[in-house]
Amino acid sequence: MDSRELLYWQEGAVSRKDRNQLNQHKSFMIWMTGLSASGKSTIAIEVEKELHKRKIRSFILDGDNIRLGLNKNLTFSEEDRKENVRRVGEVGKLFVDAGVITISAFISPYQQDREMVRNMFNKEDFIEIYIKCSVEECEKRDPKGLYKKARIGAINDFTGISSVYEEPLNPEIIIDTEHYSKEQSVKMILDYLIKFMYR
Ligand code: PPS
Repeated sequence: MDSRELLYWQEGAVSRKDRNQLNQHKSFMIWMTGLSASGKSTIAIEVEKELHKRKIRSFILDGDNIRLGLNKNLTFSEEDRKENVRRVGEVGKLFVDAGVITISAFISPYQQDREMVRNMFNKEDFIEIYIKCSVEECEKRDPKGLYKKARIGAINDFTGISSVYEEPLNPEIIIDTEHYSKEQSVKMILDYLIKFMYR
């Protein structure tokens, strides 16, 4: 017998609705996708800061951080990237249930995986943001020196160089960080979120 057939979802006495009422705002998942050095973490940090200033509860799930802990057993193979995204989706669901606006910043290069994670949420609880930036520009920025390492073959399966990045087909927001400043990018996202939050 599949052991999952022996599991039952346990409802708590305090619901997500109760938590949202206490916080006086909704909770949902913001999924940022984009190449390494496109600006995902930088923008996520600024958005979180601005939300916090407005007394809105939020939390960032960041690729590097999650891979240093929860997902430390995962590589950058196609299969492990899928598992990375799946686990973050599950953690994100818990955070959203806990009443927190959850901002994830993962390359999440495959359309199918992003589709999978979107389908883990209710339609109104998920916003996909494509942090758009060309490989050429990301490579110029190269803040961690990873592109350089990838070019000399010191890193395998590096997204944009030796591993594919599939552009999002229908994201709610596209932020082109080659053409907009950090401040402009954050403002565009906040304007969208404030409307979305009190809809
Ligand atoms: S993924 O594709 O969603 O599973 O990747 P993610 O969990 O976001 O992790 C990306 C960060 O890991 C570092 N790194 C690599 N990225 C891409 N490809 C390879 N091979 C790789 N090896 C290490 C890198 O610091 C990424 O961080 P960001 O913030 O995106 O630059």
